[in-house]
Amino acid sequence: MTHIAVLGSTNMDLVVYVDKAPRRGETVTGREFRTIPGGKGANQAVAAARSGATVSIIGAVGNDGFGTRLRSTLEHSGVTTDHLRTVEGPSGTAHIVVDDEGGNAIVVIPGANGTVDHLVPGDEGLIASADALLLQLEIPLAAVLAGAQTARAHGVRTILTPAPVQDLPPELLDATDLLVPNEHEAATLTGLADPFAAGAALLDRVPRVVITLGAAGSLYLTRDAEPLAVPAPRVTAVDSTGAGDTFVGALAVALGEERPMREAMTWAAAAAALSVQREGASASMPYRSEIEARYPS
Ligand code: RIB
Repeated sequence: MTHIAVLGSTNMDLVVYVDKAPRRGETVTGREFRTIPGGKGANQAVAAARSGATVSIIGAVGNDGFGTRLRSTLEHSGVTTDHLRTVEGPSGTAHIVVDDEGGNAIVVIPGANGTVDHLVPGDEGLIASADALLLQLEIPLAAVLAGAQTARAHGVRTILTPAPVQDLPPELLDATDLLVPNEHEAATLTGLADPFAAGAALLDRVPRVVITLGAAGSLYLTRDAEPLAVPAPRVTAVDSTGAGDTFVGALAVALGEERPMREAMTWAAAAAALSVQREGASASMPYRSEIEARYPS
């Protein structure tokens, strides 16, 4: 079985569902409020575990009620939390507005995630034992870099989601095997709106790039082959929160099983398509049996 380590955030998502998101200065009445476990790191961990990998997460929750629930939700999905610290103070929260087209806008307050600025004893051994390390940018960059370099030193594949998007130091890119931005992040990183052009520019910095394109599927670029575009299943989205994380978690599992990239992307797109048809981030993520039913391997 593929073993995946995730170094990243856990957030409690505070989600309001509205017909139309308010503009600045406007007040609107929403339909519903829910608290749903999320955070890009935790989401990717849950997606990978439900897709069929053994998964461990490195990160932190606060010593509040949210922290207790975040930990137990991860454990319920089969994610090992021995390396998830509990620290003094609040857990991370994400304040999310979801509109009636399933689109969202998110403000993240890091809370406990902000304390994850270095690896602690034991983290290196966990990373070294994994087939892949999944990284995002919701914890301090120093820890992301330490994790990527540790993985690289042990020959472990690193998959980086550059979100929330920010300038990426060359040392981090040097230690990244596969970069998975969405089209907006790719444009911000390169200044190029066209995903093919942005992907080509990113290949100057990392060997392999998958750009997610929402309903339009995903695009794979590598230095030694033609670009590969893979469509996504056509579905009606009710909540796209965490769709990118679902894609990355499932993609990592498929690549860990040594499936060819086209098949891995198709499998990951099936997982993401299932997730957008349900509300919430980690709550919406499909189990392997559901993905298999949609995309038999
Ligand atoms: O990628 C989706 C996630 O972004 C949400 O679960 C929220 O916590 C924010 O981190």
